[in-house]
Amino acid sequence: MAWFLLFLHLFLFHFPSFSSSSSSFNFSCHHNDSSALLQFKSSFIIGFSQCVPLLKTATWKNGTDCCSWNGVTCDTVSGHVIDLNLGCEGLTGTFNPNSTLFHLVHLQTLNLSYNDFFDSHFHYKFCGFQSLTHLDLSDSNLEGEIPTQISHLSKLQSLHLSENYDLIWKETTLKRLLQNATDLRELFLDSTDMSSIRPNSIALLLNQSLSLVTLNLHYTRLSGKLKRSLICLASIQELDMSYNDELQGQLPELSCSTSLRIIDLSGCAFEGEIPMYFSNLTHLTSLTLSNNNLNGSIPSSLLTLPRLTFLHLYSNQLSGRIPNASLPNLQHLIHLDLSKNLFSGQIPSSLFNLNQLYTLDCSKNKLEGPIPNKTTGFQELNDLRLNDNLLNGTIPSSLLSLPSLVHLVLSNNRLTRHITAISSYSLKKLDLSGNKLQGNIPKSIFNLANLTLLDLSSNNLSDVIDFQHFSKLQYLKTLSLSHNSQLSLTFEPNVNYNFSYLSKLDLSSINLTEFPISGKVPLLDSLDLSNNKLNGKVPDWLPETMNSLTFLNLSQNIFNLLAGDLSESICNLSSLQLLNLAHNHLTDIIPQCLANSSFLQVLDLQMNRFYGTLPSNFSEYCELQTLNLHGNKLEGHFPKSLSLCTKLEFLNLGSNNIEDNFPDWLQTLQYLKVLVLQDNKLHGIIANLKIKHPFPSLIIFDISGNNFSGPLPKAYFKKFEAMKNVTQLEYMTNDVYVQDPLRPAFGVITRYYDSMIVATKGNKRTLVKIPNIFVIIDLSRNKFEGDIPNDFGELHALIGLNLSHNKLIGPIPKSMGNLTNLEWLDLSSNVLTDVIPAELSNLGFLEVLDLSNNHLVGEIPQGPQFNTFTNDSYEGNLGLCGFPFEEKFRFGWKPVAIGYGCGFVIGIGIGYYMFLIEKSRWLVMIFGGQPKRRVTRRTRVRRAHGSTMNQNQMVQMS
Ligand SMILES: *[C@@H]1O[C@H](CO)[C@@H](O)[C@H](O)[C@H]1NC(C)=O
Ligand SMILES: *[C@@H]1O[C@H](CO)[C@@H](O)[C@H](O)[C@H]1NC(C)=O
Ligand SMILES: *[C@@H]1O[C@H](CO)[C@@H](O)[C@H](O)[C@H]1NC(C)=O
Ligand SMILES: *[C@@H]1O[C@H](CO)[C@@H](O)[C@H](O)[C@H]1NC(C)=O
Repeated sequence: MAWFLLFLHLFLFHFPSFSSSSSSFNFSCHHNDSSALLQFKSSFIIGFSQCVPLLKTATWKNGTDCCSWNGVTCDTVSGHVIDLNLGCEGLTGTFNPNSTLFHLVHLQTLNLSYNDFFDSHFHYKFCGFQSLTHLDLSDSNLEGEIPTQISHLSKLQSLHLSENYDLIWKETTLKRLLQNATDLRELFLDSTDMSSIRPNSIALLLNQSLSLVTLNLHYTRLSGKLKRSLICLASIQELDMSYNDELQGQLPELSCSTSLRIIDLSGCAFEGEIPMYFSNLTHLTSLTLSNNNLNGSIPSSLLTLPRLTFLHLYSNQLSGRIPNASLPNLQHLIHLDLSKNLFSGQIPSSLFNLNQLYTLDCSKNKLEGPIPNKTTGFQELNDLRLNDNLLNGTIPSSLLSLPSLVHLVLSNNRLTRHITAISSYSLKKLDLSGNKLQGNIPKSIFNLANLTLLDLSSNNLSDVIDFQHFSKLQYLKTLSLSHNSQLSLTFEPNVNYNFSYLSKLDLSSINLTEFPISGKVPLLDSLDLSNNKLNGKVPDWLPETMNSLTFLNLSQNIFNLLAGDLSESICNLSSLQLLNLAHNHLTDIIPQCLANSSFLQVLDLQMNRFYGTLPSNFSEYCELQTLNLHGNKLEGHFPKSLSLCTKLEFLNLGSNNIEDNFPDWLQTLQYLKVLVLQDNKLHGIIANLKIKHPFPSLIIFDISGNNFSGPLPKAYFKKFEAMKNVTQLEYMTNDVYVQDPLRPAFGVITRYYDSMIVATKGNKRTLVKIPNIFVIIDLSRNKFEGDIPNDFGELHALIGLNLSHNKLIGPIPKSMGNLTNLEWLDLSSNVLTDVIPAELSNLGFLEVLDLSNNHLVGEIPQGPQFNTFTNDSYEGNLGLCGFPFEEKFRFGWKPVAIGYGCGFVIGIGIGYYMFLIEKSRWLVMIFGGQPKRRVTRRTRVRRAHGSTMNQNQMVQMS
């Protein structure tokens, strides 16, 4: 496609004169011109041309008439060469200032585009062609500043300098050119460097040029804030200023450019509303404002433009309702993309009456209500995407019978009830996943012979369906029926399924009790059978026929054995990128081959009964990003070769029987985010730093429940760089790319979310997704001694810190008051002394505090969060007294506390008794459930930072 466009560009638009080739004229060319051309040719290597099979210069022979040479046109009267077209000729070499090209002073058109003049400057001698009307030097690898003399080319009608990334404009140079070249109609400067031009000069500069018809400033690195600027170009028809991503401010005012047909202002940082003047541009056929920060609603008059065929507004913050499409005005609309905005309300039914529409994309908005159920238009509709909205109601049957529909994506809405019969026989991609669809899978689906993707996952479908039906869909590449708890598949024994192209099969969470496929097995790339009731052995066919498998998820079943010799069968899956056998009952050793795979990115075997030692022969080709062996019976030492896995992000070896010292050699792993070694038999003092930046990416550090001794490894805490700053919310994932066998360039990405079992706030939970703001340190249940270092105070992103059940002494450092994101803090069961620092009352998100069983003394500090902690937080500290609510009482707490003696447990007992009669609010807060206020506040603040951690979504009780 690109080369086709290039071809058009070269031969149709620029030089219409070339269509009447020079060779038909009988003028002999000037001797000087002839030798200049030959010398010019010989100053380059003529390499491979990507666009033409026959090189023009092949016809250039000494002794023949140069006017008959291809690419050369002579003046019919004088015989001088006036046009030279060597576009895409494969010329390679440096353009010297002494080039004989500059002898051709009569040139009117010069095209040297798509050649490679590396290390060459745009020499001022180009500006000596005084008669030049057309100059094309696009994509020719020229560099340096554009010479000021370019303004001498006053007859220019067309100037193309596109895609010379290091060609630099100065403001005055451009200004002079535009002032002098009063006939300039076409100006293509895309992908040149205009970064030195001030944003508010742009309008002033351009407005010099009244003749401009086409202006392309795509990716010219224009930056800065446009003040409301009026670009007034009376003749302009096509304007492209797209992808200047640092260009801010309001959209430029183009209201006097009434001839505009094509506008592309996408990919900048424009903000504010879509101005009304667009509605006055009645010639507009194509408007692209996507990928900006535009807000406000769509002016309804925009949808009355009579010639509009192409409207792209995706990836902005546009809101409000989608206006009614005004018929019959919008009869020509072909592409409408409003995706990734904040549009709300219902989809106007008038859109569904547009007859020429080919694509309609309203995905990723907040559209609600039912999908219009009357469709009078859409006869040409090819692509309909309404996914990721809040749409409810049924899927209208009129949609499912559109004759031209190829892609229908309605995933992640709230659509309900049955799927009616489908008769859109052109459908290739049908994605209805993530809704609340019920009932049967309509049998008509099996007549959609062109389907390549069928995704019905995450619905409430209930059906008993013979799996053989699906093999009627012989082009099927992706089939997903996962997460339909009432769907059940039946399988007939020894059927040869006719899935020639199936590469991705997702049948997770549908109560499978037997393997879906027997007999002849398709060559799958990705297989997800997780969370079913599959038991016994993994059948023999799996490894033998699936050596192309890249993604295998059999987790959360009841498998206890892998067939045959496990190491042999798994080792045959040599291209495996993800192997997830977590949460089964597998009892085996871990095959060594998994360590020396140069493909495996994710190995998740957590919660099984694997025994023996860890694989030991990791190699320098290790691609592992996730290694999760938590909850097995592994013993022995850590393999040092693991430090060769430099891409490792997630390492969880917790809850095993590993006996070793702390693996300090892991500190070199630059990307390691999660290190969990909890509940093993690790021991010794944690050694000093070996390198300057140890563990720079670590956000979860859990070595609890071991026998580590000596001081806390404070040199590490100082260096945990990733724990110092709160970042935007993201989840830890691995994307495994599964190739499409039909079109190698188009694969599907299968996403794996790292998961782990964590102890937070005193409960064990399974984190099904790990957000990067989940920053914790857990050193509890060891034999650490000495004091708590001040350095914790710099780890501002920490949300959980557990140092409990050690032998720590000394005071709680005041610097802990800096940990303003902390949600739980457990320092219990140590030998901490002194008072609780008042700074801890700064911890506005603190939800769980445990300081019990220490030797703390003095008064408990006051503060909104401290008011919510119960007695349990402080018990076993006989020296503590005071109670943090004195201002709430008619008489101060202090005298009461002192009056009734020091000792918190006693104090609160008496306090409770005393104030029960008062029905004081704080007592209700302490004894009458969780106060709401605190939770609300946390949520609001986190939202403001764009990183709300929705605990319900990410945490499931295990
Ligand atoms: C062309 O041929 C003439 C006569 O043979 C010769 O003198 C001249 O140098 C040649 N020119 C080039 C550029 O090869
Ligand atoms: C042009 O200049 C280059 C280097 O600057 C030199 O190598 C080359 O021989 C010169 N060519 C002519 C035709 O003078
Ligand atoms: C404008 O073009 C004319 C004719 O080529 C030239 O003489 C003059 O110097 C140019 N002016 C500027 C400012 O470059
Ligand atoms: C649209 O054009 C009309 C008539 O020329 C003019 O009065 C009006 O101000 C224009 N509106 C905008 C927003 O430019």
